[in-house]
Amino acid sequence: MKPQDILLGKNSLWIFGYGSLVWKPDFKYKKSKVGYIRGYKRRFWHGDNFHRGDDEMPGRVVTLIEDDDACTWGTAFEVIGTQMEECLKYLNMRESVRGGYITKLVEFFPHGQNQLPVPAVVYIATPENPMYLGPASPEEIAAQIIVCKGNSGHNIEYLLRLAEFMRITCPDVEDTHLFSIEAAALTLVPILLASKKSVSVL
Ligand code: SIN
Repeated sequence: MKPQDILLGKNSLWIFGYGSLVWKPDFKYKKSKVGYIRGYKRRFWHGDNFHRGDDEMPGRVVTLIEDDDACTWGTAFEVIGTQMEECLKYLNMRESVRGGYITKLVEFFPHGQNQLPVPAVVYIATPENPMYLGPASPEEIAAQIIVCKGNSGHNIEYLLRLAEFMRITCPDVEDTHLFSIEAAALTLVPILLASKKSVSVL
């Protein structure tokens, strides 16, 4: 879907976030709701040479992978009126130009009773993107994440904040992929720090 087509005939728009958008939307919105989308699983399979890494050491950030049996939890933000164009312009730069994500329209299911699903825009990085890295073990992904940083900060901040969001906001949702990478990273950080200390002592 082309970004300019998203706004046609609309006076309100929902944006679904499942990565850094859940803890750092950085655009104006009317309201937000926690919920999920169906048919996708969240994976740290996309490479990032701008926000959380660079060309030499690309970071690992999340994307969505199609999977009929899966659902992904996150937050959707409703933007209205003039906020819509501003928001899409901002996200086009942040997610598409700098992050390599494309836009798709999905159905967002807000958490809670008597809530109807709404169409929402989501940013996804596909395997066709040159920065796409694909699967790796939690230990390999964690080892990459703990050493990378980019213009938006350390890659581990991205991981820990996303894990914190899921733990606090969606405590009943099991996200084995995310939490196994978080656990591996927390095991590796002291080893990394100790190795840096011993190098500086020599
Ligand atoms: C993003 O939204 O994909 C990048 C922003 C960040 O890493 O803080």
